[in-house]
Amino acid sequence: MKQAGRGFLIGLAVLLPLATQAAAPKQIEICASCHGENEMGSRDGGYPAIAGLPAAYIRAQLKAYRHGARDNVMMNAVASGVDAAQRRALATYLADLTVPVSAPASGAAAQPLDPVGAALAIRGAAGVPACASCHGAAGLGQGAFPRLAGQPADYLAAQLRAWQTQKRPAGNPPVMPAIARAMSAAQIKAVSAYYGALPANPG
Ligand code: HEC
Ligand code: HEC
Repeated sequence: MKQAGRGFLIGLAVLLPLATQAAAPKQIEICASCHGENEMGSRDGGYPAIAGLPAAYIRAQLKAYRHGARDNVMMNAVASGVDAAQRRALATYLADLTVPVSAPASGAAAQPLDPVGAALAIRGAAGVPACASCHGAAGLGQGAFPRLAGQPADYLAAQLRAWQTQKRPAGNPPVMPAIARAMSAAQIKAVSAYYGALPANPG
């Protein structure tokens, strides 16, 4: 996967000058090469789904990657070729995409959801608020709060660790760094496994 990503970056240098001329749908094809069919990501590759996330959230992430405030070699390269108007167009388009009805992650139906993660998500723990209070009862997101359900577990855990180590900036509202710092490594693992196994759209 890493190699595929690197190969892609070489291609990207050629593609982006063209893409900056094009309307959102053209750039969307570039996004799909990593974020997958329907922009729903891939659990295996660790690529997050970007369809159906809040538009303002998507826009802010693209801006943060462009300026290096959010650090990822692939997205820093992609975002460097996307200006403010294109960020807005991409964000609106992606936010409006239909999230396909999905089954739980393979194996999740056979295995019970992580019980420690579930408790943390729904009820919270000492010093850690319930994730559901902002991200919604089923982790589907609401308002400014992005969907967590169905995102790759490794991706979610990496984001929480990035907030702990100040490698990802505070968002809007700027609550996640403090929440992440209140979490133990075991809690991060458990809650990421829990949300990773939930369907992005239970139907
Ligand atoms: C070369 C692969 C690649 C391409 C092409 C790509 N992405 Fe990404 N994208 C990633 C990876 C990997 C991440 C996770 C990065 C991280 O850990 O911060 C990501 C993360 C994101 C995020 C943050 C998601 C979240 O939940 O916070 C957004 C938004 C995003 N990409 C939008 C786009 C858009 C829009 C395009 C097309 C213009 C695009 N990406 C093209 C690999 C790619
Ligand atoms: C008070 C509201 C609030 C609570 C409670 C909350 N979050 Fe968040 N969360 C947010 C906001 C706001 C964002 C968007 C951050 C940004 O804009 O950068 C977010 C983003 C995230 C992201 C990044 C998603 C992505 O696609 O990159 C993860 C992971 C996350 N939260 C996990 C959790 C977990 C796990 C809990 C419970 C332990 C939790 N959150 C509790 C408000 C909250």
